[in-house]
Amino acid sequence: ILVLVLVLILVLVWVLVLLLVLLLLLVLVLSSRLLQAVCINAVRGNPDSVIAAIDHFCQNQEWAMNVGDEKGAILDSVVMETSPSTVLELGTYCGYSAVRIMRLLPPATRFITLEMNPDYAAVARQVIQHAGLQDKVCLVEGKSADLIPKMADMFGIRTFDFVFFDHWKDCYLPDIRLLEDCGLLDQGSVVLADNVLCPGAPEYLDYVRSSLRFSSRFYRSHLEYTRVLDGLESRTQTGPGSHCGRI
Ligand SMILES: C[S@@+](CC[C@H](N)C(=O)[O-])C[C@H]1O[C@@H](n2cnc3c(N)ncnc32)[C@H](O)[C@@H]1O
Repeated sequence: ILVLVLVLILVLVWVLVLLLVLLLLLVLVLSSRLLQAVCINAVRGNPDSVIAAIDHFCQNQEWAMNVGDEKGAILDSVVMETSPSTVLELGTYCGYSAVRIMRLLPPATRFITLEMNPDYAAVARQVIQHAGLQDKVCLVEGKSADLIPKMADMFGIRTFDFVFFDHWKDCYLPDIRLLEDCGLLDQGSVVLADNVLCPGAPEYLDYVRSSLRFSSRFYRSHLEYTRVLDGLESRTQTGPGSHCGRI
């Protein structure tokens, strides 16, 4: 009986590993199918047609974790209100929001987007190139926690006017603190965070909503390409940053 139980456990573990590998493959293949949809349906050098092709693919064929059309319109309005000269995005994925943001800003804007998954970064580069924005977007591969402290050394950036948080939700709180500790946020800097309700970032929300140093605003919306309730939270710094320098 003991041997039988052991064999059963082993089989179960194998099935789980197999399922995980399959899931991973499906997710990676999805990003290539999204790229294919862009290459076939979007006009080269036209960012709006790239956005439309991705939205059409995600609404009609496969869901993907881009900020999407509904929250994308909110992102557009906050970007235009802020009119930033320096922008940081955490979480590039396939480049949808990078294209969305940079199509609205002049070429002189410094735009840096961080992506830790090299397969997604490779797809994003091609999507951004198809949109004709390759000279305006600087995509850096790596984890936010490793790269944020290097922004001054790598890019000579002192502070960011606008930061878009759209990476894994458990990184939101440590990364906002890291940006503050590195002195990368100053008076007027706007941090816009996606998915604050779904999947949710409750500790981050508590942090930005309870501090007197920021004013925060919630934008009610829906999870990309669904009717599930979600939203974006903007946090605007009301006083000067810490300017404690690099860490
Ligand atoms: C929701 S997707 C980003 C969607 C993208 N902003 C858009 O709207 O097109 C999240 C991405 O963040 C990346 N990511 C997650 N945690 C990260 C981290 N700590 N540093 C860099 N990238 C991260 C994931 O690999 C994934 O591609």
